[in-house]
Amino acid sequence: MYALEINGLGKVYEKGNRALNDVSLRVPQGSFFALLGPNGAGKSTMINILADIVRPSEGRVTLLGHDLFSERNWCKRRMGVVPQEIAFDPFFTPHEVLRFTAGLFGCRPDEAWLDELLERLELTRHAGKKARQLSGGMRRRLLVAQALVHRPELVILDEPTAGVDVELRRRLWDFMRELNAGGTTILLTTHYLDEAEELCDHVAIIDRGQLLTAQPMRTLMREIASSWLWLNYGRPVTLTDEDQVALAGFEPRGSEEGVCLKLGQSQDGQSTFHQAYQAAVARFGPPMDAGVRREDLEDVFLRLTGHGSQAQGSGVKS
Ligand SMILES: Nc1ncnc2c1ncn2[C@@H]1O[C@H](COP(=O)(O)OP(=O)(O)OP(=O)(O)O)[C@@H](O)[C@H]1O
Ligand SMILES: [Mg+2]
Repeated sequence: MYALEINGLGKVYEKGNRALNDVSLRVPQGSFFALLGPNGAGKSTMINILADIVRPSEGRVTLLGHDLFSERNWCKRRMGVVPQEIAFDPFFTPHEVLRFTAGLFGCRPDEAWLDELLERLELTRHAGKKARQLSGGMRRRLLVAQALVHRPELVILDEPTAGVDVELRRRLWDFMRELNAGGTTILLTTHYLDEAEELCDHVAIIDRGQLLTAQPMRTLMREIASSWLWLNYGRPVTLTDEDQVALAGFEPRGSEEGVCLKLGQSQDGQSTFHQAYQAAVARFGPPMDAGVRREDLEDVFLRLTGHGSQAQGSGVKS
């Protein structure tokens, strides 16, 4: 069973501005799913359609097998959405916001759970303040608490950690991980790609309204991320035509400090590290220093979204 099945979803805003184009995506139940894309890719548009804030132009969505658009109320009780934009009544305290939200979902406030939410999101100390007296990071955490009041089976978070400091970000992720371990499906957007790589077991990347890829994180990294051997000669290296021929197959690149060679697998399935190293030493002599760097999700993301020629070129992040 899928938590979400999105088929052919599209959105054209007024004046013909197309924000989503024929996006089809399956979010497995129990997954921790990252929806990634550059600014303006269409992530919030998709999430706002799921949250009933934006009306889709085309497409179908089912949530746990139920049609999202015709069974809105059933679906709403099973999902909690943290929007990107922060909007609160400025005169309510965090505790009042949560009680009020529980009322909107038609459930009697479970005080122990509300207290736990305030505690886990580090808001207990601020529970007496009015929302307008909270800092930006506190408000964002309150939004997360608000989305969890009715213990939804699917939690959708649009940049939940934007503006949240490192320590609290870590605690927020720990909490999300616990919820996920307890069976809650989590779909989130973030621009912190290192965190997405660490936390999420599935990933989709969209750009300019189009889905570029959607797969288990491990599959994506195995199929697209490559490893680079970098050799430091302490001087700029410009590759000659002969170097290119001698190192063909390793996609050699000269840099300010030495040379980078792309590693692959030899016929017996071993890394070509040894061959690459030997070939470089034969051309340039022994390096002062050397190492292997495996590309991470950020490199893959930059490559797929077409902004990655530099990162790909050096094999070392700029
Ligand atoms: N209410 C709106 N009216 C018209 N166009 C909109 C509206 N909201 C978003 N857009 C446009 O839709 C496109 C997708 O925007 P969206 O907010 O979905 O991107 P995003 O992936 O969430 O980006 P970000 O990472 O910056 O949050 C953009 O071109 C944006 O200008
Ligand atoms: Mg957005």
